[in-house]
Amino acid sequence: MELNLDKIIDIVKNELEGVKSIPAYNQLKAKYLGKKGLITEQLKRISDIPIEERSRFGKMVNKLKNDTESIFELYFNKLKTIEKEEKVLKNRVDITLPGREFPKGHLHPITLIQNEIKEIFKNLGFDIAEGPEVETDYYNFQALNIPPNHPAREMQDTFYVGDEVVLRTHTSPVQIRVMQNIKPPVKIIAPGKVYRCDMDMTHTPMFHQVEGLLVDEGINFAHLKGILKYFLQSIFYKDIGVRFRPSYFPFTEPSAEVDIECIFCKGEGCRVCSGTGWLEILGCGMVHPEVYKSVDYDYEKYTGFAFGMGVERIAMLKFGINDLRLFFGNDLRFLEQF
Ligand code: PHE
Repeated sequence: MELNLDKIIDIVKNELEGVKSIPAYNQLKAKYLGKKGLITEQLKRISDIPIEERSRFGKMVNKLKNDTESIFELYFNKLKTIEKEEKVLKNRVDITLPGREFPKGHLHPITLIQNEIKEIFKNLGFDIAEGPEVETDYYNFQALNIPPNHPAREMQDTFYVGDEVVLRTHTSPVQIRVMQNIKPPVKIIAPGKVYRCDMDMTHTPMFHQVEGLLVDEGINFAHLKGILKYFLQSIFYKDIGVRFRPSYFPFTEPSAEVDIECIFCKGEGCRVCSGTGWLEILGCGMVHPEVYKSVDYDYEKYTGFAFGMGVERIAMLKFGINDLRLFFGNDLRFLEQF
């Protein structure tokens, strides 16, 4: 039997064109090249061919087999590419569509101001110290020269947790803890939460303070004035007016309260500053010798100053907010403005 090589190759090619999947491809391949495939069968027939024709026939069928195999192989690659392209098309992402935006959070305004305060003092060489919010009577009062009958101890101000345990009413106990641990020079600020039993437009039971303490040889009130003036002019604006008023704290002597020129009326007098042109901003003073005694510091050798400020108060002034409670209401319409 004479095989028409070209004809078979053409038929295979033709049939392959219609193949669009791997299973169909395998099926067609088996039809020609499988164990019982048409071409394989031809090879098996070789012993039936008359001796003188065998060589020619054998060569011919082998060539047919090889050619067909290459055609299948080529088509297999093409099929793979087609499959891949189809997959890509099916899973196509339209990158021209606008993305879905996730709401982005940000720092709370109190944290923002607290960070700003920390940054200013860090640049002046102050370290950051921390202390517990649940404090003993000793650290919160006694060591700070607050005698047992001092009005600040009365139940309406202080949250008592236990007999001698309170929620700290200020960050000043951190002064004591720091001085117990290190010898002068001491140069720290201590930011943190404090608690007082009070609630209205300008008071919340929890608020934030930043304490400052600098102790070394030869520190005087001029250093205190210089540092605080620099700080206030950094956090508000450069030429803001600053004044010191005599005041009283059991743990400082002399003590002062610091006012800044009203940032809303620039000292003219307005509703916010009750017509005075000044806003009270922090308390400070030279560390009292009694405080040094409680931490075993030589009060003949060392002097220093301390100050304490309310973070909310600074935030209210900087952002022009009149109700302190807004900071703790977690109303996104308020918080998203910062
Ligand atoms: N601890 C004082 C307060 O809470 C502030 C203060 C700190 C005053 C340090 C003087 C020195 O009001």
